[in-house]
Amino acid sequence: MSGFFTQSFPPEPKFTEDSICNSLAGKVFLVTGGYSGVGFALSKILWAKGGRVIIVGRDEAAYEAAKTLIEAAPTSFYSTQNPRAGSLEFCKVDLADLTTIKPAIETLLTTLDRLDVAWYNAGVMHSPAGSTTKQNLELQWGINVVAHFALHKMLIPILNKTAASEKSGTVRTVWVSSLMSFRSPKPYGINFEDVNYRSTKGASSLKYGQSKAAAVILAHEYAKRAKEEALIGEDGAKKPAVVSVSANPGNLKTNLQRHQNVVLRTLSNAILLYPQRLGGYTELFAGLSPQIGEEDFNGQFVIPFGRKGKMCRSIETGLKEADTGKKLWDMLEEEVKPYI
Ligand SMILES: NC(=O)c1ccc[n+]([C@@H]2O[C@H](COP(=O)([O-])OP(=O)(O)OC[C@H]3O[C@@H](n4cnc5c(N)ncnc54)[C@H](OP(=O)(O)O)[C@@H]3O)[C@@H](O)[C@H]2O)c1
Repeated sequence: MSGFFTQSFPPEPKFTEDSICNSLAGKVFLVTGGYSGVGFALSKILWAKGGRVIIVGRDEAAYEAAKTLIEAAPTSFYSTQNPRAGSLEFCKVDLADLTTIKPAIETLLTTLDRLDVAWYNAGVMHSPAGSTTKQNLELQWGINVVAHFALHKMLIPILNKTAASEKSGTVRTVWVSSLMSFRSPKPYGINFEDVNYRSTKGASSLKYGQSKAAAVILAHEYAKRAKEEALIGEDGAKKPAVVSVSANPGNLKTNLQRHQNVVLRTLSNAILLYPQRLGGYTELFAGLSPQIGEEDFNGQFVIPFGRKGKMCRSIETGLKEADTGKKLWDMLEEEVKPYI
């Protein structure tokens, strides 16, 4: 498995809150699943640097508990600087029900005049066999892929508008993937004939891998589209485009393993998994590091705990030789059309 070792046993993060010299006051960030796990770690850092952080999730009580925790300990993890409190907001969306996205995001958009970075971070793994969303999609596919695509489609106009007036490379979308994207269906990551595995047999891990391959493919496809669609200014020149990357946050101790067998979970917690805050730094790097830009690292794959990496080779081959990016994008556009 290419890159397995370096992604499973990564070095300490180099890009932390102390690497961000300026306050993030005035910047607007959106994090799906930002009240727990990696999303919580990231939201805490963004808030502590002064950012306005919108947490998209389904459980308001969980959001309130996270908000209390973030505000009660107003230092972020490694920082030696004084924190500058930003703001936290909740946007209630159940990603397992596509009908909840449009009303919530339409309301949210009335309060936003910019959006700097969106992290498509919420996710489920190894959900019990037969678990489906309200629209009867396989749960991991429905939440990790389809719902995030619908949300993304609704955010494109404000991302474009923000990118047009900002420094190139600073307005971004981060599609949270996993090392498990390397274990996705062959040949190119997506079982296009039956993405919901209705008539095909597939282990839960394969379905999860497929959903995480989709994050890599969509990040790449959106990077291409965003560049093509970058707005033209009065001078006839193209404006900066939204930058789009995928990221494997790392193997981390979070609630993601909630459906895993207890023995396996205990073992992996002891041997393989790292503290969740480290995953926050991977996502921070993907969203804010100046090492990522419109020209040199767009549509690519970030690895733990904040480094430029290489996506799974078969996914890359599919993108180049089978146009899987367009195929997946077109398929999802049809799927979400009735809901956005
Ligand atoms: N942990 C790892 O080792 C690891 C490794 C590679 C990639 N990742 C990826 O990292 C991301 C974050 O996961 P995590 O490890 O931080 O796990 P986590 O603690 O379980 O966080 C997942 C988040 O997704 C939210 N979510 C799940 N179903 C939802 C729904 N129907 N509607 C709205 N929100 C929903 C959860 O909210 P609720 O609490 O309300 O369910 C939670 O906030 C995921 O995309 C995961 O695939 C994690």
